[in-house]
Amino acid sequence: MPTAQRTGVEDGVGLTALMVAAARAIETHRPDSLASDTFAEYFVRASRASTAWPTRPEEVPYGDANPLWGRLGRYFGLRTRVLDDFLTDSARAGIRQVVLLGAGLDTRAFRLDWPQGQTVYEIDRDGVLAFKHGVLDGLAATPTATRRPIAADLRDDWARSLVNAGFDRTAPTAWLAEGLLLYLPSAAEQRLIHIVDDLSVDGSTLAFEVKLGTESPEVRANPVYTTTKQQIGVDLLALFDREPRPDSAGSLEARGWSTAIHTPFDFARHHGRGPLPEPNDTLASNRWVFAKLDKR
Ligand SMILES: C[S@@+](CC[C@H](N)C(=O)[O-])C[C@H]1O[C@@H](n2cnc3c(N)ncnc32)[C@H](O)[C@@H]1O
Repeated sequence: MPTAQRTGVEDGVGLTALMVAAARAIETHRPDSLASDTFAEYFVRASRASTAWPTRPEEVPYGDANPLWGRLGRYFGLRTRVLDDFLTDSARAGIRQVVLLGAGLDTRAFRLDWPQGQTVYEIDRDGVLAFKHGVLDGLAATPTATRRPIAADLRDDWARSLVNAGFDRTAPTAWLAEGLLLYLPSAAEQRLIHIVDDLSVDGSTLAFEVKLGTESPEVRANPVYTTTKQQIGVDLLALFDREPRPDSAGSLEARGWSTAIHTPFDFARHHGRGPLPEPNDTLASNRWVFAKLDKR
């Protein structure tokens, strides 16, 4: 087993990658599963930080009523499905390079049915990727696309590392920032959007998740946040960047991208599964933005 402690998945924001992996493991085993990730439970079991976490619905105390693994977990399951669909639709439209920004323990390069010639770049911090590789190597997992992991801090200038890894600046790209921007300082988010735009040609697509505005004290006291901190030691409110958020969708529009902005509830209703609004909802300010560069 890889030693997670040295690698960063047990620390700070790295632990959120394990949290999402556990949610995906649980989702995989639900009878009404929205997404399947058979690798996810191996990550959870491989780290001392998460080895006692549930990976199956029957292991979740109070089941769907559990604010962490029930409601927030289902949110991650829904998000996985929607963004799986975003990437497979992009591939179907002919896009042959994908960049996963803050890839964490995402296994789409192994579990999705990619067309011939697909390349998936995964950017995350060195320690997170080292842990991921330890687990996947132990499983002798084989990617279904050409996979190029890149160790980089997305607050820095990561464009050069991506280009050095073989990224084709002349080809359209499907970019994904899933569960990332909430943790980045505002200036880093703006820089990231600028780099994505700079490296994109017509036909490129981008999906990302943001939170709008500031959450009220009542929302911050929601059991989703308090339970997550108490049960697994992930203090989301402390990890989220507290600066006013930039209008990344607006910036992209100004640069010639078209955007569609959805709530997670739009997709929960569409699939007939997933979280619906509740009082003092931690998900009420979440938005999933889908952008496309059509013609500059
Ligand atoms: C909530 S996890 C999401 C992981 C993955 N996208 C998913 O949905 O499973 C957040 C990820 O962002 C990564 N991350 C956060 N800040 C980062 C930074 N400055 N540079 C690189 N990666 C970062 C973390 O290491 C972590 O893997």
